[in-house]
Amino acid sequence: EYDPSVVKWRIPVVVHVIRNSTGTLGHISESMVQSQIDILNEDFLALAGSFGADGTDVQVEFFLATEDPSGNPTNGITYSNNTTWYNDQGGYYVSLAWDTNRYLNIYTNQASGALGYVPDLPQGGIVGSSADRVVIFWRAFGRNAPIGPPYNQGRTATHEVGHYLGLYHTFQSGCGTSACYSTGDRICDTPAESNPRFGCPIASSCGSIDPTDNYMDYTDDLCMERFTPEQSRRMRCTMTWYRPNLAQLACTPADGDVDGSGTVDVEDLLNVLADWG
Ligand code: ARG
Ligand code: ZN
Ligand code: CA
Repeated sequence: EYDPSVVKWRIPVVVHVIRNSTGTLGHISESMVQSQIDILNEDFLALAGSFGADGTDVQVEFFLATEDPSGNPTNGITYSNNTTWYNDQGGYYVSLAWDTNRYLNIYTNQASGALGYVPDLPQGGIVGSSADRVVIFWRAFGRNAPIGPPYNQGRTATHEVGHYLGLYHTFQSGCGTSACYSTGDRICDTPAESNPRFGCPIASSCGSIDPTDNYMDYTDDLCMERFTPEQSRRMRCTMTWYRPNLAQLACTPADGDVDGSGTVDVEDLLNVLADWG
């Protein structure tokens, strides 16, 4: 049902770059922002010739928004100078969020000391609230990012967007049980893993080789290189159930904007499919 070969989905992104109040820390150029979008596409589309080439083509594409929530043209990037926000405090997202039903809101700042995080998975009910977001440490954002190896190739964003689309860590709940759709990471084609792996090891736990090449582990950026086919389907399933107004369709069904939301989105596709029975 969630077969990625059926239709490509395109997600509009707004990147909110938050600098300290003097603007001396946290700046990210527009071309650096675009390089991170390019990496998301290399990884989610498994583009030939890129580091993501060996992964699964999820048929989900990302683009910097060209229209803001009021319908005005935009480059999909906002810049703010605010030291509290730069320190990942003070509810910056209440002020800055663009309709989280329709845009992937990514913020760059100090990310509370993490490489990145999401406040919750979409199935937790966060969708539509201003808190619904992806936060990335500004020095780990984009290609050849200033943090330097091993976290400088944009895979923190790939990992966090995986969470944003409903994926758990490969090491979620340790080994789980043989009921692989209801324990562990709820995915059967990712071998169970007892704990996160760092670096780029060949390791085993829970009676199998650990998926250290998976974007949802904690290994080095250039070690992680795939979502599995079932992770791909879980993300697409998550989008139909929890984020039906996020992705726009790369091809337009004849019925067009069935629900009148202004864009031809996944919810319209669901309506068309329901019409067809
Ligand atoms: N939330 C994780 C952390 O902050 C992200 C791990 C990203 N891993 C990576 N290789 N970029 O630790
Ligand atoms: Zn994570
Ligand atoms: Ca698994």
